[in-house]
Amino acid sequence: MHIEVRGLNKQFGDFHAVNEVNFEIAKGQLIGLLGPSGGGKTSILRMLAGLETPTSGDIIFHGKRVNDLPPQERGIGFVFQNYALFKHMTVYDNVAFGLKVKKQPKDQIRDRVMSLVELTGLKGFEHRYPHQLSGGQRQRVAFARALAPEPQLLLLDEPFAAIDAKIRSELRTWLKDMIERLGITSIFVTHDQDEAIEVADEIMIINKGRLEQKGSPWDIYKNPQTQFVASFIGESTIVSQVDRLPGFEEAANWTGTQALIRPEYIEIGKRHEFRMPSATVEGKVKHIHFRGSEWMIEVEVGDIKLITYRSLEKDVLQPGDKVNVLIHRAYLFNDNDTWIMENKLKEDPMPIHI
Ligand SMILES: Nc1ncnc2c1ncn2[C@@H]1O[C@H](COP(=O)(O)OP(=O)(O)O)[C@@H](O)[C@H]1O
Ligand SMILES: [Mg+2]
Repeated sequence: MHIEVRGLNKQFGDFHAVNEVNFEIAKGQLIGLLGPSGGGKTSILRMLAGLETPTSGDIIFHGKRVNDLPPQERGIGFVFQNYALFKHMTVYDNVAFGLKVKKQPKDQIRDRVMSLVELTGLKGFEHRYPHQLSGGQRQRVAFARALAPEPQLLLLDEPFAAIDAKIRSELRTWLKDMIERLGITSIFVTHDQDEAIEVADEIMIINKGRLEQKGSPWDIYKNPQTQFVASFIGESTIVSQVDRLPGFEEAANWTGTQALIRPEYIEIGKRHEFRMPSATVEGKVKHIHFRGSEWMIEVEVGDIKLITYRSLEKDVLQPGDKVNVLIHRAYLFNDNDTWIMENKLKEDPMPIHI
């Protein structure tokens, strides 16, 4: 189902929980709705589902405005964080629930439930009750139950938040695979950036009720459009007065005061490791941490603390070592704009090795 949201607002009293949100979702896409807790993600889903009335704005499915359509007529499946299974019903009855409500013939219900039980890997568990299942199995039942009435839009609100890390990562892969196979338009809410990056075709970043950016995970990583997005996705250090750094003097002309530097845009090493030492600045190694496949290094350049990584193949640096630091790139921000600034002193374009 094609989804369009125009000028969506939700106020609770004076509080603006969702603020002028606009987006479009193509049929069959899996969208990650990502942002900190309290940002307005659940409110957006509830308005799409018809469980909450927008203060203003339009919700359009397939080109038709659905604001006044009751939830059961919107063709939506909903999976919540806290399972929300019917405790006194078996797996079979939970999955069959929506079909019974629609008064479908018994044998048709049976075929549909059994095919979903099979699809979600729950064969043999049909007669169990929710308390006889693991957290991951329960969420698969919730998923099967949401799919049973053949919804055209699936809304998943932090479906794996209550499940431990290892199972959660298995479920993510399972879910992505399942949604791709079914080709159902889906919105997946999470506050975990790794989860969104791994699962979604496109991510929408929501903060304080506003949609900060929408794009592919890679696009958002490469071209963050606000300071919030840049600091929320990936690791980074915020630096004030970046114009103090060699190669970034032009930043003095910028109206913003802060810049953001990602670890992968920084190289550190002994002077002889650089072809253009003049593009580097001197620094001192503060801490080193072994990270399995590389070293994570905290380095001080004057009063600026930066984080970077260094290959295990190179000479090991020690805390206290004097090093040269090459900063390839910084993101500059003000209220309206982003400027991705390259180090003007270095001759080579930055090698991208992310
Ligand atoms: N029914 C409500 N009444 C008053 N405030 C609410 C209500 N529902 C949500 N809010 C507030 O709106 C903000 C956004 O909430 P929510 O959409 O649940 O965010 P998220 O899902 O991103 O954590 C929060 O500050 C929350 O306290
Ligand atoms: Mg929520």
